[in-house]
Amino acid sequence: MTLGHPELVAAIASEITSSGPIAFVRFMELALYHPQFGYYMRPPDPGAERIGWSGDFYTSSDVHPILGQALAKQAVQIDALLESPVPFTVVEMGPGKGLLARDFLQAVERESQELRRRLRYVLVERSPAMRAQQEQHLAPWLGRDGCVAWVEGPESLAPSSVTGLMFSNELPDAFPVHRIQIADGIVQEIFVDYRDGRFVECLKPLTNPAVQAYLRRLRLALPEGYRTEINLQALDWMKQVAESLARGVIVTIDYGHSAQDLYGPDRTKGTFLCYYSQMASEDPYIRVGQQDMTAHVDFTSLATAGEEAGLSVTGFTNQMSFLMGLGVEEMIGRLEPESPPFRAALHLLKPEGMGRTFKILVQHKGIARPELDGLTFKPFFGSALTSNQVRGERHEAMGRHPASSRPPLTSSLQA
Ligand SMILES: C[S@@+](CC[C@H](N)C(=O)[O-])C[C@H]1O[C@@H](n2cnc3c(N)ncnc32)[C@H](O)[C@@H]1O
Repeated sequence: MTLGHPELVAAIASEITSSGPIAFVRFMELALYHPQFGYYMRPPDPGAERIGWSGDFYTSSDVHPILGQALAKQAVQIDALLESPVPFTVVEMGPGKGLLARDFLQAVERESQELRRRLRYVLVERSPAMRAQQEQHLAPWLGRDGCVAWVEGPESLAPSSVTGLMFSNELPDAFPVHRIQIADGIVQEIFVDYRDGRFVECLKPLTNPAVQAYLRRLRLALPEGYRTEINLQALDWMKQVAESLARGVIVTIDYGHSAQDLYGPDRTKGTFLCYYSQMASEDPYIRVGQQDMTAHVDFTSLATAGEEAGLSVTGFTNQMSFLMGLGVEEMIGRLEPESPPFRAALHLLKPEGMGRTFKILVQHKGIARPELDGLTFKPFFGSALTSNQVRGERHEAMGRHPASSRPPLTSSLQA
């Protein structure tokens, strides 16, 4: 088994040798985003791909374009609610290979040429290597009236510069996380040391004030031996995104849960996983820089961070309900039954798979609470998300509820 990309292993080992063991969050930052050798920062080997069927993992847009098509339909509705601003800006954050952007842009061209003329599509991507892939997939739109542009991070967007829609698919789950463990009755943080040519873990009592504050805010009482992850970068990101939005909607699609579920008693090992060649593993200390790393998102804390930055929660749903609300049945109805595209589209809806694992947090700012088609179906009983006794996902239901009868979601999301 390889330890990892040789230059990256050497760079991390050298940092540990000179400064002592590093917090896991730093190890993950280097493994994924070391400027030269990190997993997302290196160009893929010729002929190989990172994201996709022959890569380490695939995302919705590798399966079928319906997610991009549904987001385009949602954008048309948001544009009308915002009274057709010039420009209508769409900001996609963490665009991967750029397939979702391609599907979205193709769908907008079909849905509304008038919106297409006012559209400005900004991709937020920190990796030059990923951006190069995005440019390939978006070639038909490049140079055409400057509609497509890139920035490196949400901090590059000027405050209140966006009127429109900001969205991401599988972004905060790719942010480096702090990992903690309850040991000897106290919260300890996982650090990474380098000994005898291998990366090994060690525990240190938790001293990071931001992680301490996070745990205090959720009032978590975790048992001895419990391991989990804290994603502070997701909170900073949410604040930056909120600041850049003047008026409009933010849609965050990712693996995740309410805090009550994510930090519940049956997730004693947390949700951290690595992906290599479509296989999941719990070992981040092999194939360093050659495998993806990810942890599920705490949507409660994301919603709270957004509220503190001036956003309101519009709704919280799952991918299956979002797609159904945006008319995916009709889109699938146009496909040949049992054909490969038909089965691919159904794959994104499967209640035992991508349809329910993916959650969608919708927030708004600068407008009255919008009634969005993507939130027509309400998969969670509000009481299940508010009660301290019961846990959200076990109480998912598929009943149709008018959007106006939903309880305020911010309280539903509180742990
Ligand atoms: C898991 S992939 C996302 C997949 C893609 N959205 C899709 O639907 O196929 C994560 C992407 O986010 C980018 N990324 C990670 N951290 C970022 C950050 N802080 N700002 C912008 N992009 C980031 C990565 O380079 C990569 O392109």
